[in-house]
Amino acid sequence: MPIQTIIEPFRIKAVEPIRMTSRAERSALLEQAHFNVFNLHSDNVLIDLLTDSGTAAMSQEQWAAIMRGDESYAGSRSFYELEDEVRSIFGFDHVIPTHQGRAAERILFSVVLRPGMTVPNNNHFDTTRANIEYQKAEALDLVIEEGKVPSADHPFKGNIDTGKLEALIRERGREQVPLVMLTITNNSGGGQPVSMANIRAVSEICRSHGIPLFFDACRFAENAYFIKLREPGYADRSPLEIAREMFSYSDGCTMSAKKDALVNIGGFIALNNADWAQQARNLLILTEGFPTYGGLAGRDLAAMAQGLREVLDEDYLRYRIASTAYLGDRLEKMGVPTVRPPGGHAVFVDGRAMLDHLPPEELPAQALSCALYEAGGIRSVEIGTVMFGKRDPDTGRELPGPMDLVRLAIPRRVYTQSHVDYVLEVFQEIARDKGAIRGLAFEYQAPFLRHFTARFRRL
Ligand SMILES: Cc1ncc(COP(=O)(O)O)c(C=O)c1O
Repeated sequence: MPIQTIIEPFRIKAVEPIRMTSRAERSALLEQAHFNVFNLHSDNVLIDLLTDSGTAAMSQEQWAAIMRGDESYAGSRSFYELEDEVRSIFGFDHVIPTHQGRAAERILFSVVLRPGMTVPNNNHFDTTRANIEYQKAEALDLVIEEGKVPSADHPFKGNIDTGKLEALIRERGREQVPLVMLTITNNSGGGQPVSMANIRAVSEICRSHGIPLFFDACRFAENAYFIKLREPGYADRSPLEIAREMFSYSDGCTMSAKKDALVNIGGFIALNNADWAQQARNLLILTEGFPTYGGLAGRDLAAMAQGLREVLDEDYLRYRIASTAYLGDRLEKMGVPTVRPPGGHAVFVDGRAMLDHLPPEELPAQALSCALYEAGGIRSVEIGTVMFGKRDPDTGRELPGPMDLVRLAIPRRVYTQSHVDYVLEVFQEIARDKGAIRGLAFEYQAPFLRHFTARFRRL
């Protein structure tokens, strides 16, 4: 039988110790954190699956690039290295660095949006939505129906519904839709990919109406690899060739480099429209910095350029997608309900289905997230009623969100298979006695983005 195991394609040169804690210690810490894992100190977390953003381990070549970074205020060599790398993969003329993805969004939308306009997307990420709404424009989600059903198996659940997109443009008119976006992969929809066929179809619609297509490109390399694995005709193409084809159908992108550029901070806007680029640079100078550093140190730009060189490596992507699927598939086999199929950067557990003795008002996904910490020191994040529900101002009752999910996001190149096996064992232990997990109620909630600072009590 051929060898099946896909190993981590790296060995470890520097280690960061994990402080072990006991269950009794974690119970006390959870209570002190008011049952909100955002309030935990990271030293008290064993396996941190809160986010894949900015949590990657950098390579020896990235650390070497950090030393070589050019800290010149203007014309930094590290900027030109980044510009070359972005042009070579993404193919856009103008590259504008920003300190992270949301800064790129704020600048782009300040340039292109006017009140009352609409920006369609498969699913807007929450910062994208917030930055569009800040311009008094509308952020519209048009993901395909399968993308809304956790258990529906579909190879490209991140696809946009092209019928709805075409109808929207006809209804609102080209002037009211200054750009169309596609989030690759679709984070808010479970890290699900968008197919090349869908990208091509969206591009044709956009071009026929003279509307630019922009990617929210944070996880472009993972998306490219899913196309290689799942879309007929791409099995023999390299991830770089696939990425170049994806970008060839678009006119620009916003990028949070904290994901697929394998760095801890950074981002950029890249685009072809020279007029928009000029306006964006003018805004950049106001809050981020001179156009050749955009709110970053020269060394950050150098690490980003090197990260982009590494992320399309096929061995890395095979390991990355396989290790996320390893967790998702084994959880599902164990009877833990998850969003199918597993995404590229995260596995989403259906907390409402797993803890079906708790109604959504008793916050089952938040309760599961707390149980994971208490049982095994694992930090996850609730994506459910706490994040997307709201309190009825008349009755004071909690109105449930559409789903109650717990996201297990996998930092890049950080954890090994034995860490993931440990997570699986913790789930096994929780599942054995899941009926004993108690619900939670809000003790305090802020008027917006309440999940970050909410406090809870056990019912
Ligand atoms: C799809 C998507 N877009 C935009 C962002 C925002 O990026 P940043 O956190 O760098 O501001 C994120 C971050 O998680 C994301 O997942």
